[in-house]
Amino acid sequence: MARLVIVSNRVGIPDRGARPGGLEVAIRPALKRHGGLWFGWSGRVAEDVPQSVKIAAQDNITYATVDLAKDDYQEFYNGFANRVLWPILHYRLDLAEFTRRDLGGYVRVNQYFAGHLEKLLRPDDVIWVHDYHLMPLAKALRDRGHHNKIGFFIHIPFPPPEILTALPNHDQLIPALCHYDLVGFQTEVDAANFARYIANECGLPWASGNSFHFGNRIVRIGTFPVGVETEAFARLARRAVETHFVREVLGSLSGRSMIIGVDRLDYSKGIPERMSAFERFLANFPDWRGKVTYLQITPRSRTGIPEYADMGREVGEAVGRINGAYGEASWTPVRYINKAHSRTALAGLYRAARAGLVTPLRDGMNLVAKEFVAAQNAEDPGVLILSRFAGAAHECAAALLVNPYDPEGVGNAINRALSMPLEERRQRHSANFKVLVRNDLSHWAGRFLRMLEPPEDEIDSRTLVRAAGAR
Ligand code: F6P
Repeated sequence: MARLVIVSNRVGIPDRGARPGGLEVAIRPALKRHGGLWFGWSGRVAEDVPQSVKIAAQDNITYATVDLAKDDYQEFYNGFANRVLWPILHYRLDLAEFTRRDLGGYVRVNQYFAGHLEKLLRPDDVIWVHDYHLMPLAKALRDRGHHNKIGFFIHIPFPPPEILTALPNHDQLIPALCHYDLVGFQTEVDAANFARYIANECGLPWASGNSFHFGNRIVRIGTFPVGVETEAFARLARRAVETHFVREVLGSLSGRSMIIGVDRLDYSKGIPERMSAFERFLANFPDWRGKVTYLQITPRSRTGIPEYADMGREVGEAVGRINGAYGEASWTPVRYINKAHSRTALAGLYRAARAGLVTPLRDGMNLVAKEFVAAQNAEDPGVLILSRFAGAAHECAAALLVNPYDPEGVGNAINRALSMPLEERRQRHSANFKVLVRNDLSHWAGRFLRMLEPPEDEIDSRTLVRAAGAR
């Protein structure tokens, strides 16, 4: 296969410590398998105008990163990407703060990425661009004369046109996706929303049910639910649960059951709503008081954005309220921690937990849900309580599916999870686990790349079949 070039805003440079974010978790193993180049932001904001690309190599991956200038960071990352696209794509029109200046910064950084990337490109590279930060990147490359195969995968939700069209200048931004050869989504719903946008807003001719003509190219739309390395994560969890760290946590619970939640501090994750649900649970099921501890691990994220700081305060207050109202000198109902934990530590904690609370208000996929399932002991598994609005709910249908906006309902689900008979827990876990083994991370990357650039023997046989048909 031609060289694979991954482009994403965040680059998972090794040895940078534990960082939250599903994108890096998903890309690294895929790229490790294929080898290739990973290009993106270094994570640094330069004092003066940044100039050069920094190159580092490890295993068979070359990392190429660029710094961002202060204004670019502000307008592109804190501004348009995370205060306009992030809320709108998560169906939160009420939180979007659009300015034309930030849109300008977003387009400028995409040009800047294209300018540096093209110096590293070979004509036959296959380029795979990730996430909402880089929607116009293919256009920027095409404008510079690059004809490579370019695919785009969006890790977060893609809402219906009724929501997207509230984005000022959507008619310049969303059609830029037509410069990719393949546009991939987490779920059928997201893909159908994009197809409807193309039909309603762009009026482009369809080539088939899932592809359309754009200039002299055909653009394909696909669904590729991102997975985890299911069996490897299960092995990691088996080892991790025996580590000193996990034993110490379990010891500190004094035999109480543990419920776990792990999320970046982000309003899309529904953490305040989840706190209310836990509060309802303690109020409605008093027998559980003193017998269960809810551990919520929530690393801070995007701290330069006001909505994130507001949310941090809101969650802190809710935790204080619950612990104040229900806690005892010998029992703290909620343990709330802002420190990021290593994958190993999380794997062990998931396995040790009786229930996993994954209740985003809206989520592209949510790999915590999948890792929680992968980590369980099949003989005595914990129960996944999962928002119906997470992409993972399409696959983990045997979880207890809940509406995160209904604290009473989520509180009931917590009670049901903690009281669930062993046989039902086993059946639900086994059903979810099987699905996650069938669609693990290697399938995700493999399917995307095969659709973007079919292997040569497949192309040959298709050409032969077509030629035979023509005769
Ligand atoms: O998956 C969505 C995403 O925005 C990724 O693109 C990103 O790596 C992760 O969440 C963490 O967000 P951020 O890069 O803003 O810290």
